[in-house]
Amino acid sequence: MNNHEVGSLQEKLLVKDMMTCQVVTVPHDLTMEQVKALLGDMAITGAPVVDDKGRICGIVSMFDVLKALEENLLSLPVAGRMSTPVIVTTPDSTVAEAIALFRQHRFNRLPVVDGERVVGMLTPGDIVRKLANVLKLDLVEEAAGPQENRTILQWAEEFPVAAGEFGQAGEVSIAIKKKLQEAGLSPLVIKKAVIAAYEAEMNMVIHSHGGAFEVRMTPEGVLMTARDQGPGIEDVAKAMEEGFSTAPQNIRRMGFGAGMGLPNIKRSVDSLEITSRIGQGTEVKMVIHFQDGGLNENKTDHQ
Ligand SMILES: Nc1ncnc2c1ncn2[C@@H]1O[C@H](COP(=O)(O)OP(=O)(O)OP(=O)(O)O)[C@@H](O)[C@H]1O
Ligand SMILES: [Mg+2]
Repeated sequence: MNNHEVGSLQEKLLVKDMMTCQVVTVPHDLTMEQVKALLGDMAITGAPVVDDKGRICGIVSMFDVLKALEENLLSLPVAGRMSTPVIVTTPDSTVAEAIALFRQHRFNRLPVVDGERVVGMLTPGDIVRKLANVLKLDLVEEAAGPQENRTILQWAEEFPVAAGEFGQAGEVSIAIKKKLQEAGLSPLVIKKAVIAAYEAEMNMVIHSHGGAFEVRMTPEGVLMTARDQGPGIEDVAKAMEEGFSTAPQNIRRMGFGAGMGLPNIKRSVDSLEITSRIGQGTEVKMVIHFQDGGLNENKTDHQ
């Protein structure tokens, strides 16, 4: 897979462009009982711990709270129960550096520190959302660009998609976009294909156990098939409804789970077929025709 474009984006984008600036911090002298209440009230699963001067001295998570609960030690101060030392990043670090930390340490929350002061928090979800926005912005610019000048007529490739890998999510869509651009397709066809690919890719990352994304370009059109192993979709008609989502809270907090993915795909492609088997997996087959659909500028566009 060609990750070049994502790689260069990750080098260009900085942590300060993606972090959440409103950070909940935990004073070091709270008890674990108070930490439990605070995390619960704020609906977060962890937070950095700060000393009297506001300097970061540790990080505490719901996991630590559960452990204290099990050991009947909720009355102890967080200072003795938090994790130290804390792995942190800085506002001017690149996103590539932050992703490397996420991969290395397998946690999903990174305090952003300027000097010793916490100025933000970064999660893999923040990165995915920002990359998705950059991708879409790009597409809008290109839609106004030059018209079709097809140079590649046939092409097929299969990309693996890993479940739950938010640090990599979007890479398949970007690789597809690059290839369709190289092939000289019209900006409108590329835009539709990438919107559909991105939604299908995210559904595999979020809802399945992983699978493969196949793209086939012929002189007639683009055929994309997202095949996954996973729980399958119980009621496909219901899943197609706008606003229907089974995404859990933690996924919604990352900005997904509006129940708009499948409806967006439907609007972007000329034909959509979903085959799903409960407990086995799902196949989403999407086709954009060059002549009688893909190049028709009057077709409803979701943007
Ligand atoms: N590959 C899949 N495997 C299992 N279930 C899926 C899959 N794709 C979609 N679903 C189910 O269909 C529902 C609707 O999907 P859709 O993409 O429209 O919304 P969403 O993913 O929940 O939210 P959004 O796409 O707006 O972030 C999902 O919540 C999920 O229950
Ligand atoms: Mg979705």
